[in-house]
Amino acid sequence: MGVSYIPVARIAELAPGVMKEVDLGGRQVLLTFAEGKYFAFSRQCPHEDADLQSAGQLLNGTKLRCNNHGYCFDLKTGECMLPQGGPPLTVLPTEEKGEDVCIRLEW
Ligand code: FES
Repeated sequence: MGVSYIPVARIAELAPGVMKEVDLGGRQVLLTFAEGKYFAFSRQCPHEDADLQSAGQLLNGTKLRCNNHGYCFDLKTGECMLPQGGPPLTVLPTEEKGEDVCIRLEW
């Protein structure tokens, strides 16, 4: 199995509550900083494909709400918390490497 680290931001570049757009080889991902950690997740809502850059709202802690229909996701796991059992949000692991925030890809 291979592992790659894709640098997507500089450490301390993101203020809490900001969502940065990242193009990951043609896939659109958002990166945010919350509770002292970086979270990367699909820009597309798993419910009906809303653009979370505009429809997404970061709530307290590590929750993300899609304002299109009110679904809420846990950025730590991608789990849909409201409604429970809804489609999960795709989340990607991040790691800090030197001065960079990286997305960790495995294949
Ligand atoms: S499209 Fe996001 S909750 Fe429906």
